Amino acid sequence: MSTKTILITGGAGFIGSHVVRRFVVQYPDYNIVNLDVLTYAGNLENLRDIEGKPNYTFIKADIRNQSEIVKILHEYRISDIIHLAAESHVDRSIANPNAFVETNVMGTVFLMNAFKDLKTSGVFFHISTDEVYGSLGETGYFTESTAYDPRSPYSASKASSDHFVRAYGNSYGLNFLISNCSNNYGPNQFPEKLIPLVINNIQYRKALPIYGDGQYTRDWLYVEDHAEAIDVIFHKGKHGETYNIGGDNELKNIELVRAICAEMDVRLSREKGSSEELITYVKDRPGHDRRYAIDSSKLKNELGWKPQHDFSEGIKLTIDWYLENSRWLAHVTSGEYQTYYEEQYLKR
Ligand code: NAD
Ligand code: DAU
Repeated sequence: MSTKTILITGGAGFIGSHVVRRFVVQYPDYNIVNLDVLTYAGNLENLRDIEGKPNYTFIKADIRNQSEIVKILHEYRISDIIHLAAESHVDRSIANPNAFVETNVMGTVFLMNAFKDLKTSGVFFHISTDEVYGSLGETGYFTESTAYDPRSPYSASKASSDHFVRAYGNSYGLNFLISNCSNNYGPNQFPEKLIPLVINNIQYRKALPIYGDGQYTRDWLYVEDHAEAIDVIFHKGKHGETYNIGGDNELKNIELVRAICAEMDVRLSREKGSSEELITYVKDRPGHDRRYAIDSSKLKNELGWKPQHDFSEGIKLTIDWYLENSRWLAHVTSGEYQTYYEEQYLKR
């Protein structure tokens, strides 16, 4: 018996595509509606394997368009929303902050306006980031009660949207969940982000840009573990609560890049140490956050989630995927992926 029609926003992006696939495959009784405007980061080739499934629908739409969103939510009788659509890259936010306010803040508010008027008993699940908590020193962890201290236009826009979600819970009784996750890696990540950028550049013997001194630390989580956490929180989380999600896997950027170099030398049968020669220290990101580290004990203890992939396994799976999907990478780097929607959907 189908009880839910879940709108997943940003489902053509990196994390969203893993979440859409998981829900479509594991919950055949749910109808999954993937709403995505297909910015440079949205790629329907990520979902080629599930696009014919009977419980899956794709809609090209923009969360910045309030009236269109209202129409879609009514037309599809949406019961719940898992909201991932966002501008997600910190460097782009420093270059062009406006797009981050428009999509991440206004888009989230428009979605909630439309959702609260449906008066469903379902939930608005807002997918956020650990970056809202700011930057840590050598020690300590972000918990759900760490004070917000966003330091880039991207994290300020995500922090603002988190505040709006809680405010809608308080002012309008909106049922909500929020999760704040650490850095994801895995298949289908756009190669502007550190890990796919490094894998791609090593293949083509291009420089590996390391910002500043390379001692910046991130807590890396395999993307399918994030998708599983979203599933667990969606089904078992207490409405009105926030859950931190992390990989228990802190690495300094230079350590991470060296580990990828070593693995790539083996995979590409290149001389040991040859990829490391590509490492190039470059100008730092302005206002670069020094360290992120997540305490996800609330999610582990209360809902029973834990990451299934350790880093040595996850990075091998990721490298395998990029090497086996050179066509995906070539389409993404050439821009060809942006015609997939026209070819597959508009001609039908
Ligand atoms: P991504 O950039 O790969 O994908 C974002 C998707 O949103 C794209 O498909 C894009 O087309 C879509 N989108 C952008 N603007 C839109 C709009 N106006 N209307 C409709 N769709 C739009 O991002 P990602 O890395 O998969 O991140 C997904 C979510 O998870 C974001 O909310 C991000 O803040 C959050 N998050 C990401 C990470 C990470 O490490 N990547 C970690 C924690 C949280
Ligand atoms: O922490 C969660 C966040 O992780 C998400 O909310 C963001 O959407 C996601 O993009 C990611 O943000 P980061 O800024 O941490 O990811 P990025 O891959 O851009 O950079 C990772 C680290 O590597 C960071 O310290 C900057 C550094 N870096 C990045 C690039 C692209 C380099 O040294 N060189 C590079 O070329």
